[in-house]
Amino acid sequence: MTKYQSLANDLRQQIRQQIWRSGEKVPSVRASSHQTGYGTATVLQAYQLLESEGWLVAKPQSGYFVAPNIQALITSLPEPPQAPVNINDLLFDVFQRTKDSDLMPFSSAFPDSSLFPQQELVRSLSSASRKMNNRSALTHLPPGNHDLRRIIAQRYVQQGLQVGPDDIVITSGGLDALNLSLQFATQPGDYVAVESTTFYGALQAIERLKLIPVEIKASADDGLDLNDLAEKLSTYPIKACWLMTNVQHPLGYTLSQERKQTLVSILRQHNVFLVEDDVYAELYFSADKPVPAKVYDQQDRVLLCGSFSKCLSPGFRIGWVVAGKHSEAIQKQQFLSTISSSVPVQLGISHYLLHGGYDNHLRKLRSTLQDRKSAMINAIRRYFPNSTAVTDPAGGYFLWLTFPAPFNSHAFYEQALEKRIAVAPGTLFNIRQDAVRHIRLNYSCEMDEENLAAMATLGQLAKACLDGKSTGRKHCSAK
Ligand SMILES: Cc1ncc(COP(=O)(O)O)c(C=O)c1O
Repeated sequence: MTKYQSLANDLRQQIRQQIWRSGEKVPSVRASSHQTGYGTATVLQAYQLLESEGWLVAKPQSGYFVAPNIQALITSLPEPPQAPVNINDLLFDVFQRTKDSDLMPFSSAFPDSSLFPQQELVRSLSSASRKMNNRSALTHLPPGNHDLRRIIAQRYVQQGLQVGPDDIVITSGGLDALNLSLQFATQPGDYVAVESTTFYGALQAIERLKLIPVEIKASADDGLDLNDLAEKLSTYPIKACWLMTNVQHPLGYTLSQERKQTLVSILRQHNVFLVEDDVYAELYFSADKPVPAKVYDQQDRVLLCGSFSKCLSPGFRIGWVVAGKHSEAIQKQQFLSTISSSVPVQLGISHYLLHGGYDNHLRKLRSTLQDRKSAMINAIRRYFPNSTAVTDPAGGYFLWLTFPAPFNSHAFYEQALEKRIAVAPGTLFNIRQDAVRHIRLNYSCEMDEENLAAMATLGQLAKACLDGKSTGRKHCSAK
């Protein structure tokens, strides 16, 4: 954060706390410079920023005053969360369970590992490593391996995106790409819009970067509510949105092309960045690959983030951001954190993409996932209470389940663990952590007898929860 932004943050906080009240004069630029030790230009910049946001008004010859309608502004803005969005402990617990091979992995964030072309990847990795020389580590520093960026660009060009290798920065997985992009687009204290049910990584990033989340209504049936987005953008000084337009995680919807186009034009009107989380881009079930919203972006307002973690190999940790003219700025952010993604792995993946039959693998993967989705939905219809609502996603490998009250996803999570079954509680996907009537299930494993039996057990547990009966140490109903 720059000095003037930090100063503006402090003053915003003081106005929120009513240390400076509506109509009151704030210290003069000179006095504030004297008191804070910042130069007068820095203080002036901070005051001008606050003026542009509506916190202060400037009166010629008199100085800066707190805006007369400040209370309305403050009450219209959400309070910064008092307690941080604290999903880390639960998330860590759920994540750790993913490694326990004794547990049925319905909570996993990754597809069944047997669906990845392990052998071919290992072959590509060793073949590429043999060609490495002493200079390789340096020549593949950010923005990353040229061939890899070229192949990624080629795939986008085929979808109508005007993208070249120089627009792309290779990162250490999709999450790194997303974090770097959000960090680039915001300063601590800024407002960021996210879907009302969203990927927990977005919530963690907002927490870590000290941003203020603004929820935009979204549902599995209707997708993102663009009217709500437009309204929130008019109400709050939102600097960036983190949204998924294809195979939204965990709701599973994909926005139509028209809505993506409208989304980009709304963001353009408000001069807001979109961090587009498109890590499920290759796992679509429609006949044609859905385009990202970035296709409609003429001004590099969309930072398109992708990854090989979901469709090729989670452990390789290779992702990217299509940053366009912001490529260098993203690389500078990268320089302060991960510096670069692994060079041998970049080379290995690029070798695989050139020689390994990637598209063939993807076709098989999508078809298998689609069959497995049907198998799990059938199991839910067979074993779960009739009142269970389940999504039918447009791709990916997650189902989002909704139960009526008094279902409690935390208690359900613990009861399922006692039966050696891992599920992801809905509370992980929502800022207020009040999605207690939801769970997310990963359907990428084959629905063999063992999995079917586990689904039957989950169904029984869900029935017991809804009947208000305790079947384990913890009672299932919400208190
Ligand atoms: C929506 C979404 N974005 C980003 C990521 C992170 O991707 P990666 O594993 O490539 O860092 C995930 C992983 O679960 C995800 O679900």
